[in-house]
Amino acid sequence: MLRFGLIVGSTRPRRFAQIPAEWLLTGAVDRADFRLDVLDLREIDLPFLDESFPPAMLDGAYANPKANAWRQRLAQCDGFIATVAEYNHGPTAVLKNAFDSAFTEWQRKPIAFAGYGTTGAARAIGQLRGITVELQMVPLRHEVTIGLEPFIAVQNKEKALSDYDHLNRARTALFDNLVWWASALKTARNKLRVVA
Ligand SMILES: Cc1cc2nc3c(=O)[nH]c(=O)nc-3n(C[C@H](O)[C@H](O)[C@H](O)COP(=O)(O)O)c2cc1C
Repeated sequence: MLRFGLIVGSTRPRRFAQIPAEWLLTGAVDRADFRLDVLDLREIDLPFLDESFPPAMLDGAYANPKANAWRQRLAQCDGFIATVAEYNHGPTAVLKNAFDSAFTEWQRKPIAFAGYGTTGAARAIGQLRGITVELQMVPLRHEVTIGLEPFIAVQNKEKALSDYDHLNRARTALFDNLVWWASALKTARNKLRVVA
């Protein structure tokens, strides 16, 4: 069975991120093809990157114990889903720091995004696609976009994310495509020599 890391990408008190994270976990309960491990950046509590050299040059040997623990959690995953908040038209600083704080453990693995906010965090997700390509990841076309209306209605507790058929369908398509890419890339990682 494939293992995916569910990165909860914001950490502030009363964050909305909790809601899409729980809805993604609920949607994954009946899946026999993968399991979701929660990687909550609030609990992981990474320091701002404090390595003497860029992680790309460290070959996975990090000095900071918390970064090392983070790296080991990532290494166990075949792919990732990140909840994405948009802060001033970009990703949250904690999520960017989480990407910067590892390197080899991200490589040649797929990642899908579940964004929310006035534009479903579209601008933050656009930036994350470039960031993850630089980490030699495969960012998926399929994403969950929780736009203005569901974002407000769910925040006000008038509705739940599961009330929205288009979101439930997007979640299934995201899962299906993540499984496809994770299977293909895992096979390739196991079979093929890594090209520098
Ligand atoms: C520092 C900050 C900047 C924000 N900038 C944007 C933005 O550029 N676009 C947007 O749609 N929402 C923006 N928002 C509103 C967030 O979409 C909203 O607060 C959301 O709940 C943040 O996710 P979180 O609750 O998981 O932290 C911003 C919120 C914060 C705290």
